[in-house]
Amino acid sequence: MQILIKYLLKEDARLFFAVQIIMREISPFELNENFFKAIGKDWTLVTAGDKNKYNTMTASWGSVGIMWNKPVAFTFIRPQRYTYEFMENSDYYTLSVYGEEYRSALTLCGTRSGRDIDKAKETGFTPVFDEKAPYFAQAKMVLVCRKMYAQNLNEDSVIDESIKSNYADNDYHRMYVSEIVKVLVND
Ligand SMILES: Cc1cc2nc3c(=O)[nH]c(=O)nc-3n(C[C@H](O)[C@H](O)[C@H](O)COP(=O)(O)O)c2cc1C
Repeated sequence: MQILIKYLLKEDARLFFAVQIIMREISPFELNENFFKAIGKDWTLVTAGDKNKYNTMTASWGSVGIMWNKPVAFTFIRPQRYTYEFMENSDYYTLSVYGEEYRSALTLCGTRSGRDIDKAKETGFTPVFDEKAPYFAQAKMVLVCRKMYAQNLNEDSVIDESIKSNYADNDYHRMYVSEIVKVLVND
């Protein structure tokens, strides 16, 4: 693992330094990650936007696989999330995975809205803007995703009636199928 100490000039012209962990790029086909655990148990952050304005939220529903002969991620966002606006207005987003030491940070990102708080400030996460969508320097794995297809789930398409109990407010998720264009790991 390489560590680069970067001097950054802040908007207020104060000079401070940050340690940026340089991540290693690997092919999606080299991944040994158990995504049942990574997504469902460890949880992910979905992050979209740019340097000027971005948001992140916790997501534990979704998957990765192959579609249209490409490595893809399937991401599901309810319309009332603040992150939804960023997902709709961006061509790219990231899915990132963190170690157990960040559980409380991910809980915060999954229970508070970016409409009300600055999640990076509250969690201490360091946003990184060197890819087509932001992610956080503390991530152990980042998938950079390019949206290919989006569709709203809907009541008419439900086959298993038990699913409906997840949608008491009729807030069916929007599904994004996205090409995984880059995988970064921090090992
Ligand atoms: C463990 C966990 C998993 C979650 N998974 C999802 C998900 O897959 N999709 C979704 O729309 N919301 C999910 N949420 C809820 C959002 O993360 C939550 O509503 C968040 O506060 C939205 O933030 P925002 O308004 O800043 O976008 C999850 C929350 C938690 C705690």
